Amino acid sequence: MGIDAISNRRSIRRYKQTEIPTAVINEILEAGRLAPSGKNRQPWRFLVYGNEPKRRLLEKMEAGIKRESEGEALLPESVHGLPDARNTLRIMREAPVLIMVVNPCGKSPFEAITADERVTEIVDSLSIGAAIENMLLAAETLGIGTLWIANTCFAYPELVNEMQTNGQLVGAVTLGYADEAPAQRPRKPLEELVEYRI
Ligand SMILES: Cc1cc2nc3c(=O)[nH]c(=O)nc-3n(C[C@H](O)[C@H](O)[C@H](O)COP(=O)(O)O)c2cc1C
Repeated sequence: MGIDAISNRRSIRRYKQTEIPTAVINEILEAGRLAPSGKNRQPWRFLVYGNEPKRRLLEKMEAGIKRESEGEALLPESVHGLPDARNTLRIMREAPVLIMVVNPCGKSPFEAITADERVTEIVDSLSIGAAIENMLLAAETLGIGTLWIANTCFAYPELVNEMQTNGQLVGAVTLGYADEAPAQRPRKPLEELVEYRI
């Protein structure tokens, strides 16, 4: 796994209905497990959904998006993101496997937290990002398409209730055999991102 996996990976939004062997799913999860983390806290839990449990979970996501769009928004400044969330829901339904990613030490985003807790949460979120990226790259080398998803935030209470978790729902990752081959999406040029001060 290396630079090729990094440059060939794409967000996949069309999936075949072919099942993924459990051994392949486990290899992807193993890549997440090996990620670095702040204080080696390993602040991640991976809930793997498919079939009927996935269908039920995504019913709740649909209900959350509906609530958000019908005047009971918990994220009122983000309602412009709801069409994208509906599209993400379509993709989550199509993908045969959905990994829900939970920070077991994190609190709901709707709870107040202290500055100390926020600092810990930032570090944990970075660690979780490393675990997710490891999984995306492992999947790429195994011929599995992925999508990293944050739009779960629009149905936060509905999803954590259905998942019966006390942790913080950080996001999700779809897995499946790609049914599209998108071109590389644009990136800012390095000159815009980097300042050498040497
Ligand atoms: C933290 C994070 C959250 C994302 N959430 C979503 C999402 O909810 N729905 C979606 O369709 N794409 C989502 N994406 C995918 C991005 O749109 C995608 O990575 C970006 O447009 C670049 O395209 P590429 O992954 O093909 O290089 C997310 C990506 C990241 C890193």
